[in-house]
Amino acid sequence: NSDYDKYFKEIHGILMYESFVKYWDDVDAFQARPDDLVISTYPKSGTTWVSEIVCMIYKEGDVEKCKEAIFDRVPYLECRDDTVTMNGVKKLNEMASPRLVKTHLPPELLPASFWEKNCKMIYLCRNPKDVVVSFYYFFLMARGHPNPGSFEEFVEKFMEGQVPYGSWYNHAKSWWEKRVNPHVLFLLYEDMKKDIRKEVMKLFQFLERKPSEELVNKIIQHTSFQEMKNNKYTNYTILPSDVMNHQVSPFMRKGVIGDWKNHFTVALNEKFDKHYEQQMKKCTLTFPTES
Ligand code: PPS
Repeated sequence: NSDYDKYFKEIHGILMYESFVKYWDDVDAFQARPDDLVISTYPKSGTTWVSEIVCMIYKEGDVEKCKEAIFDRVPYLECRDDTVTMNGVKKLNEMASPRLVKTHLPPELLPASFWEKNCKMIYLCRNPKDVVVSFYYFFLMARGHPNPGSFEEFVEKFMEGQVPYGSWYNHAKSWWEKRVNPHVLFLLYEDMKKDIRKEVMKLFQFLERKPSEELVNKIIQHTSFQEMKNNKYTNYTILPSDVMNHQVSPFMRKGVIGDWKNHFTVALNEKFDKHYEQQMKKCTLTFPTES
C-alpha cells in the first residue's frame, strides 16, 4: 500500500507519522524534569484512561481541576503538526511542574533525559488483538491515516510492524524488560478492566500519594468508560470533526476486553496466534485469561 509511504516515515528504525518526523531533533533533545511523570503506551492501549486516573490522583479528586481537554493536561510529547499548530514539545516546555507526559515511544526512542533524570514512568499494555481492532477504527476516524483497507489487510500490516510506532511485539517486550526498574510501573489494560480498585491502589503507591476510600471511589466512578465517554474533556470531541470524525467511530468506542472476537476470522486468529508465539517466545509477559 503505497499510500502508507505518504503518511508514515521511518525514524530510528520505526514507522512514525510523517509530520512528527520533520522536527524529531526537538524530541531527541527534550529536557525532562525530575518530577515529570511519563505515561507510555503502544497506541490504543488505554492511554486516555490511565491519564485521567493519574490526573485525578494529582488533583486529589477535584473534578473541577480536570475540566480541560486531556491532551492539554497530558501533552503528547512527540506530536507535531504545523498545519494545526500541534506541538507537544513546545506545550510541555511551557508547562508548570509537575508535568504529565503522554508518549507512545518505545524505551529506546524515549528522550534520554527522562532516563538520566530518573523520571517515573507508567507503561500500560493491552492485548494486541484488541489493540489492532481499536487501531483499525482509529485509522478510519482520525486524520493523518491512510485508508487501512480491509481489517485483515490491516492486521497484516500490524503484524509486520508497518504501522506508526512499529512492532507491537518489540514495543511490549522492550517495556516489559524495563519493569525491573523501580521507576517503571508496568500495568495491563485487562487487569484494570478486571479489578480497577487494585490497579488504582498500585498507582497511588507508585506515585507515593495517600489514598482514602472516598477518594478511590470517586476516581473509579469518574474514570469509568461511560463517564469518560460522556465527558467532553476526555472523549476527544473538543477536536474539530476533520481531525477526528466521531460519526465514523467514536474515540471512546467500546472499552472492553475481547472485541477482537467480533473481527477476527478463525483462520486469521490462528495465523495471528502462531506469529504471536514466534515473536513473544522468549518473553514472560502474559495476559489474564478471558471471561
Ligand atoms: S490513543 O489514541 O492511543 O491515545 O488511545 P488510547 O486512549 O490509548 O486507547 C483508546 C482505547 O481505550 C479505551 N478506553 C477505555 N476503556 C475502558 N475504560 C475507560 N475508561 C476507557 N477510556 C478509553 C477506548 O474505548 C479505546 O478502546 P476501544 O477498544 O477502541 O474501545
